[in-house]
Amino acid sequence: TAAKKGGYPHFMLKEIHEQPESLRNTILPRVQNKLPDFTADNIPDSLFHGISRIIITACGTAMHAGLIGKMMLEKLLRIPVSVEVASEFRYQDPIIDKGTLVITISQSGETADTLAALKLSKERGAATLSIVNVKGSSIARESDYVLYTHAGPEIAVASTKAYTAQLSCLYLLAFRFAYATGKMEKDACIDELQQLLHAVSVLEEVLSQDKIIEEISIQVKDKEDLFFIGRGLDYALSCEGSIKLKEISYIHSEAYAAGELKHGTLSLVTEGVPVVALATQQKVYSKMISNIREVKARNAFVILVTVEDQEAEASIYDYHIVLPKIKDEYAPFPAAVVLQLLAYYTSLHRGLNVDQPRNLAKSVTVE
Ligand code: G6P
Repeated sequence: TAAKKGGYPHFMLKEIHEQPESLRNTILPRVQNKLPDFTADNIPDSLFHGISRIIITACGTAMHAGLIGKMMLEKLLRIPVSVEVASEFRYQDPIIDKGTLVITISQSGETADTLAALKLSKERGAATLSIVNVKGSSIARESDYVLYTHAGPEIAVASTKAYTAQLSCLYLLAFRFAYATGKMEKDACIDELQQLLHAVSVLEEVLSQDKIIEEISIQVKDKEDLFFIGRGLDYALSCEGSIKLKEISYIHSEAYAAGELKHGTLSLVTEGVPVVALATQQKVYSKMISNIREVKARNAFVILVTVEDQEAEASIYDYHIVLPKIKDEYAPFPAAVVLQLLAYYTSLHRGLNVDQPRNLAKSVTVE
C-alpha cells in the first residue's frame, strides 16, 4: 500500500494534496466558452425552469458541503434552499412538490439514509439531481440527473477531496441554474467561474502552510475540548472543521455560530481552551473580531484565520493563519485545507490511526 499512497505517509494527506487536481478535473470538463456547461452530463437547462425550492439532503461531510452550497444557491437564485440530514428528512413527512429540486450529495453513492431520502423525494414528485463521486453507484442510478465529482478514489475515512469537489459542483450548479433562468448575466457568470478557478489556485498555495498548522496541532493535541467559531460561510465551514477533528483525533469539539457564543458556549471557554476563529468573511469581519475579543478576554488559546490585508491586532490571537486574498464566497476552499491539515496533524501527533479511526466506516450502508 505504500506505493498506493504515492509517497505520502497516509491516504488522508495524499488526498488533501490531491485537491487542486481533483477540483480541476471536476470543474474544467464543465467549462465551454468560459461558461458552465452540463451538456456532457446530460443535464438540460429545462430542469431549472419551474423550480421554486431546493432541498439538499446528505449525511456527514457531504451534508456540510450542502450547508456551504445553500448560501451560494440562495445568493444567486433567490429561491429558498434547505439542508436536511438524510436520516432526519426521511422520517419527517417532508413537504415536496413538482417545483422542488432535491439535491442529494454523497461521496460513495451508497449511504443508506441518503439513498432512502432520494427514493422518498422521487415518490413525492420532486426532480432529483445527485452529486456523487462513485460512478454507477446506487444514488447515481436512482437519480434523474447526476453531476459527478471527479475526485478519484477517496480511501481515508475522513473525507477531504470529495468535500471540496462537492463544493465545486454546487457552485457550478448555482452558476448554470442562475444563468439558464436569466438570474445572472453572461459576463457575471463568466466572472464567477473565473473566481472559482482562482479559488483552486489559492487552495493550492495554502497547502504549503502545513508547517505552521502542524505546530498548532502540537499545541492543541492534549486538550480535551476545542471550539470552532465563524459567521456565515465560516460557520458552515466550522461544522466541517469540527467533525474532521472529532473523527480522527477523538478530541471533543463544537462548531458554533460566533454570534451565538454568548448564548451558551462562552461558559465553556476558559483559560487555554483552543478556539479556531474563522474570519474570512469581510461582510461580518468587525462582528467576528468582537466575538474573538470575547473569547480572548477569557484567555482562550485563539487560532485566527483571516484573509490577507485584514487588520487583526496581535493581542487577540496566539496563532494567525493568513490566506491569500480571496472573495468571501470562495474563501471556504482554502480555509477547508487549514482545517483538514489541523485535523490530520492532531491525529498524527496523538499517535492515532489517521486513515481508519475507531468505530467509523467510509461508507455506511446500514440505516
Ligand atoms: C460516513 C463517512 C463520512 C461521510 C458520510 C457520508 O460517515 O465516514 O466521511 O461524510 O458517511 O458518506 P457519503 O459517501 O454519502 O458521502
